Amino acid sequence: MPGDPLPPTDAPADDRADDQADDQADDAVDDAGAPAWSGVHRGPLREGEWVRLTDSKGRRHNLCLEAGRRFFSNKGHLDHDELIGREEGFTVTSSGGGEYLVFRPLLSEFVVSMPRGAAVVYPKDAAQVVTMADIFPGARVVEAGAGSGALTCSLLRAVGPTGRVSSYERREEFAEVARRNVRQFFGADHPAWHLHVGDLVEELHSVPEDRHADRVVLDMLAPWECVDAVADILVPGGMVCAYVATTTQLGRTVETLRTHGGFTEPHPWESLVRDWHVEGLAVRPSHKMNGHTGFLVTARRMAAGERPPLRRRRPAPGAYGDDYSGPRPGDLPPEPGEVRG
Ligand SMILES: C[S@@+](CC[C@H](N)C(=O)[O-])C[C@H]1O[C@@H](n2cnc3c(N)ncnc32)[C@H](O)[C@@H]1O
Repeated sequence: MPGDPLPPTDAPADDRADDQADDQADDAVDDAGAPAWSGVHRGPLREGEWVRLTDSKGRRHNLCLEAGRRFFSNKGHLDHDELIGREEGFTVTSSGGGEYLVFRPLLSEFVVSMPRGAAVVYPKDAAQVVTMADIFPGARVVEAGAGSGALTCSLLRAVGPTGRVSSYERREEFAEVARRNVRQFFGADHPAWHLHVGDLVEELHSVPEDRHADRVVLDMLAPWECVDAVADILVPGGMVCAYVATTTQLGRTVETLRTHGGFTEPHPWESLVRDWHVEGLAVRPSHKMNGHTGFLVTARRMAAGERPPLRRRRPAPGAYGDDYSGPRPGDLPPEPGEVRG
């Protein structure tokens, strides 16, 4: 949702953030909470902004407003000039009689319609990450991979301009997609965002500002490969949060965190969201839902040299039996018949 992008500057990042925040604060009527870098704009729709048109069947069209341009649909056309200058939240009728609701897209709408490189974290899971990984204003967050930048937008909104989101992405072409999407959402380069192209484990130690992180968020194929590197940079009490698509990834991630020994017992979960149909006496769950998106797991970093208490719970018989080939936590009781040297 670009407003007028802020002019580039050579000033150091911190000064730039202050200057931009000051400039935007002057314009606070148009840009909601401008110093907070929310990506939300207020006031009349302006040229260069994205708007979302929703027709009577719920079909959505996103368009970037441009004076003199026309939007065409199966219901005729609409001139962008009819939208520019109006307050969002109105209905407009096309030349063929189609009615369209006009709003600026919300963050949750932007991320599911923006261009993609890699698969994005869906809004329901991004919401879980922000709350359950306790992302707070001013936090120092390390994220990998940046993918398309969807989760990055939520993280940046949560940390605000006084925080830091350092995103690592090993594929240059995905990093470029993320760069464009994040810039489009915030209307300019967010002062708290630092994008690094490269593998998290290989690059992390070359970025001095990332040697102390409050939170690490991993959305990648093999988060277990990053556990040692993450443990090195997380402050005591800091949190790691991993988002994975499959049960095998979930098992490997949890067992690696457990085996490391410097984290609290990992907490794995998933969230299911079900819409409801509400019409008079017909109040029932929607017939359709997204049955599965991904699993989340969080754990907290212990202080240096500290270990969590031994778990009292005994694993189910055979849980770590012959067929199990993953990492083995050090505090496992012997399997029935197992002889230890
Ligand atoms: C599913 S996507 C991330 C999507 C992103 N969270 C979003 O919401 O748009 C996973 C990304 O992780 C990147 N990746 C995988 N392993 C990585 C690593 N070790 N370091 C950096 N990036 C990595 C991949 O290239 C891919 O772009």
